[in-house]
Amino acid sequence: MKSPILASSLLIVDSITTTLLMSSKASTASATLTLRILRKKHWCLLKRVKNMLKKDRLKFNFFLAVPQEGSISKEELQKLLDPAVYKIGCSQAAKNKWVQMGNQISRKVQHVEDRVKDLLLQIQDGQELGKDDNNSLKARKLTALQTWKGYSVKRGPEYAPRRRRTATDLTREHLQGGDWRNIEFKEYNFSAKGPPPESGHLHPLNKVKERIKNIFRLMNFEEMPTNRYVESSFWNFDALFQPQQHPARDSHDTFFLKAPATTKQLPEDYVETVKRVHESGGYGSRGYGYEWKREEANKNLLRTHTTAISSRMLYALAQHAKQQSFTPKKYFSIDRVFRNEAVDRTHLAEFHQIEGLVCDRGLTLGHLIGVLQDFFSRLGMDKLKFKPAYNPYTEPSMEIFSYHEGLKKWVEIGNSGMFRPEMLRPMGFSEDVNVIAWGLSLERPTMILYGINNIRDLFGHKVDLGLIKKNPLCLIGIK
Ligand SMILES: *[C@@H]1O[C@H](CO)[C@@H](O)[C@H](O)[C@H]1NC(C)=O
Ligand SMILES: *[C@@H]1O[C@H](CO)[C@@H](O)[C@H](O)[C@H]1NC(C)=O
Repeated sequence: MKSPILASSLLIVDSITTTLLMSSKASTASATLTLRILRKKHWCLLKRVKNMLKKDRLKFNFFLAVPQEGSISKEELQKLLDPAVYKIGCSQAAKNKWVQMGNQISRKVQHVEDRVKDLLLQIQDGQELGKDDNNSLKARKLTALQTWKGYSVKRGPEYAPRRRRTATDLTREHLQGGDWRNIEFKEYNFSAKGPPPESGHLHPLNKVKERIKNIFRLMNFEEMPTNRYVESSFWNFDALFQPQQHPARDSHDTFFLKAPATTKQLPEDYVETVKRVHESGGYGSRGYGYEWKREEANKNLLRTHTTAISSRMLYALAQHAKQQSFTPKKYFSIDRVFRNEAVDRTHLAEFHQIEGLVCDRGLTLGHLIGVLQDFFSRLGMDKLKFKPAYNPYTEPSMEIFSYHEGLKKWVEIGNSGMFRPEMLRPMGFSEDVNVIAWGLSLERPTMILYGINNIRDLFGHKVDLGLIKKNPLCLIGIK
């Protein structure tokens, strides 16, 4: 197809215009080049139609070769015509009932005319048609309107074959040499912004962690010292009345240490009591009825939950109560824990656990629900639901669900419960002291708040530093 007629002064080579465009942008605001984008609409034939026209032309040429009067023999015609014209033309012309085929070929009609074909040929030659013709051809899906785009590039008032460098500063050399008189200075741009200052950036996890810490502090909770990643199985499991055969204590779930493989010291009196409760119970419990092994308790591991710290803190509190008097406590911690898990988009082998606990006399499940309502509403989660659950060291236990306004459904946000007497009494607490506690991961709320779907984009070696630089100041609240 021919291109539509162009003004000869126009450049239409796309690649040239783009480079010119870029260089004109790079220069100052005064125009070294003027650029106009040109658009022109024209009708063009669809590919299918083009093929059809080609066949048509063959058919027509075939027809013209047949004499107006009388007839012509096949062989003679074949000699006269191009093989393609003969082959396609003869079948098409016969189909259209223009000619009588046989050994002798003669015209059936004297004159053939195809208006549509004529119009299409006109379009193909770049001629313009009337409105009705334009529309009828389009309606018959023979033509389509195409937009031709081109650029007009001309020299601007500031055109120069080489880029001029304008001075940005008046220097000593300018003054000494005296050329300051003739130099062209770059105009000052008072709205120009300076380069962004280099500064540190907080990771989203740290921001959310800080907000949650503040919530705990506002609720008068004390932070527990969690700076201890390596823990003994005793504090991580046994003190929590978690039996030694429990699957969580398998190396498939927990990272055990090779060196040092075992802990050096444990409070022996307490260890004895824990052993007895595991083996035969006490305090209204029958225990697990198995032979408790000290070697199992000595094994060092990477803590699987911060509750290992809670058990140390509660033990210390009970000891203090025995020696002096019982002081009610509200504790919290937010720190890293480790699980031997297959890594996927929602799981890592390490994550942060948020934990809160209250130790006081006469606490009930009602207190737990009340504290949870208070805590989570400060995080923007007002609608809570609780579901009974099982945990080895809490009874009763509840999973916590929050209604997610964005997802329009209930999502699980944490776990909670009251520590069992089998855990608290061996520590030395009296019967009327209870502990309510809850836990959740830090990653999950952070991912929801920052709209991150893959945990590996949030934490670990694949994290994009740009994300950390660009992320907004944290605003807690479920969207
Ligand atoms: C038909 O289309 C051509 C574009 O190829 C246009 O220039 C012309 O004005 C149209 N005719 C009418 C009457 O709209
Ligand atoms: C001046 O700086 C502003 C902000 O960076 C920019 O938008 C504007 O185009 C500049 N003006 C000139 C004349 O360069």
